Amino acid sequence: MTKITTISIQKGGVGKSTTATNLAAAWALMGDRVLFLDLDPQADATRRFGINPRQEGLKTIANLFTDGNLPAAETILRRELNGEGAFIDIIPSHPDFKEVVRSLNARNTGLVKDILRDIANEYDHIVIDTPPGDSLVALNAYLASDRVIIPVQVEPSAVEGLQEVMTALTEVQRGLNPNLIVAGILPTMVKRKTSLSTVSLANIREAYPDLFLEDWIPETNRFGETELDGLPLVVIEHKKWRQSDGTKAYNKVAERLR
Ligand SMILES: Nc1ncnc2c1ncn2[C@@H]1O[C@H](COP(=O)(O)OP(=O)(O)OP(=O)(O)O)[C@@H](O)[C@H]1O
Ligand SMILES: [Mg+2]
Repeated sequence: MTKITTISIQKGGVGKSTTATNLAAAWALMGDRVLFLDLDPQADATRRFGINPRQEGLKTIANLFTDGNLPAAETILRRELNGEGAFIDIIPSHPDFKEVVRSLNARNTGLVKDILRDIANEYDHIVIDTPPGDSLVALNAYLASDRVIIPVQVEPSAVEGLQEVMTALTEVQRGLNPNLIVAGILPTMVKRKTSLSTVSLANIREAYPDLFLEDWIPETNRFGETELDGLPLVVIEHKKWRQSDGTKAYNKVAERLR
């Protein structure tokens, strides 16, 4: 069965795209068939897979949203990961997707579900990256998904941010997608050995004991340093004798939620 996983929280810059790209790549390196769907007009994830969203002739999620007759398969790019047969399929985003999103109305909530309908069976995992903020794009992703992973930057306001996304998800579960589950809350950018981090982490665990993922992601500068390398860090460090703590943590999350 295909597992469709959305990575989402309204707050920006908390590690959504880092989580989405590294988890998707970790599953692909395990041999799973993975499709990555970039729903963020910033196209960060698209770029981090080494794809220039502005390259000529590229068909993207913007085309799929505006042309109901375009088959999703025609937008998929296949990216080799390690030269040993592991690959990931990507439906890229594009800066123009922002305009498309702006023109959506409240009835346009099933577009992502429609797009994935014909191709979902070909994959073990579909991973969806979402833009920050409350949007019809995130709602589209929730309606198309089996589960949501919520990355949260470990800071004093973390629990407040979690309440906001949990409220939105509860509403979806009560209405448009009763099958949606929250697979976990994943603390990111955890600064080791600072009391602020320790306290904030404890607050998140206390507020959501059943959802708290113990494989939280430590602050790891390598994520930023390798952003232009065109592959997620878990791929760059795959089979490396010394892996960063960030790679180890994402591999653990991938095992847990595979
Ligand atoms: N564990 C980490 N340690 C250190 N830096 C990190 C970590 N995770 C992510 N980053 C860095 O933080 C920045 C924001 O991360 P990311 O792009 O994943 O967030 P985002 O939630 O997708 O942002 P946006 O809301 O803009 O889409 C990036 O520069 C990324 O490299
Ligand atoms: Mg992002």
